[in-house]
Amino acid sequence: MRHHTTFRQLEIFEAIARLSSFTRASEELYLTQPTVSMQMKKLTDIVGAPLVEQIGKKVSLTEDGRELAQASREIFAILDRYTMAVAERQGLERGKLKLMAITTASYFAPRLLGEFSKLHPGIDVALRVTNKEQVLASMADNLDDLYLLGTPPQEIDVIAKQIMDNPIVVLAAPNHPLARESRISLQRLAREPWVMREAGSGTRNAIERLFHEHGLEIRPRLELGSNEAIKQAILADLGISALSCHALTLHQPGQFAVLDVEGFPIQRHWYAVYPAGRQISPVARAFLEFLLRQRGERSCSPDKLGANCRADCAS
Ligand code: PGA
Repeated sequence: MRHHTTFRQLEIFEAIARLSSFTRASEELYLTQPTVSMQMKKLTDIVGAPLVEQIGKKVSLTEDGRELAQASREIFAILDRYTMAVAERQGLERGKLKLMAITTASYFAPRLLGEFSKLHPGIDVALRVTNKEQVLASMADNLDDLYLLGTPPQEIDVIAKQIMDNPIVVLAAPNHPLARESRISLQRLAREPWVMREAGSGTRNAIERLFHEHGLEIRPRLELGSNEAIKQAILADLGISALSCHALTLHQPGQFAVLDVEGFPIQRHWYAVYPAGRQISPVARAFLEFLLRQRGERSCSPDKLGANCRADCAS
């Protein structure tokens, strides 16, 4: 078997085993579903026995599948240790990490950097929080090592690794009449006054896409260029909005009502991105691997996201 299997196949299989879903694995690895299915078929042919059983959308592992999942995890753990050791020899003691995070990513990026800095105290870190246009400009000029984004750019050829879930939830003031309702329809919601992020925001695009898919349109009552301003506007009863759960990280439960709306939370993701063809520095590679290693632990972890989003992140 080892003469034929590729690491890519094992990586895909490991993701399917961990996430119990072909769809989620393809999203996480930023691959198309047919690619994932084809690689799984090849792997199954090489092994000569079924690795997964599919009932409806739910994927479970066969006995052979469980053993292969375990073997894959061990292989990747050994490789991770090797990469870290090499990176350390190549100078992880000292160095500089230059990161750029798009607006909403600023809610989690500093915490991750803090954890990484504790592991590598000799590394200086610079984080710039900015908008999409500046991300593209910085990529074109090769200014930063890595970019943390919700939407990998289409304009430039990039490598994008999924690092975290990014659920978008509908928020209202706690005393809002809709806060007591369940299964609110999108039609009903479209009639509400909305406070919206500026045009071009990834969050806004995701909300508009969902409504558009249902033949609906939101007419914003107010447009604001920051999540913090939007939260203030909600509390001032200017309207409802939808934001990333991460924007609620530091809030007490109950400070906002998370509305129970059909089609929400919108399941988005955060990506670490760099231009394809760019050789990233050992420090940047170590940070990327740190992000990927902790991906499972962090995805939608309720304590990290804030109590407001618990119910939405449990799914
Ligand atoms: P934002 O989110 O643009 O709404 O801040 C980041 C993204 O989704 O790309």
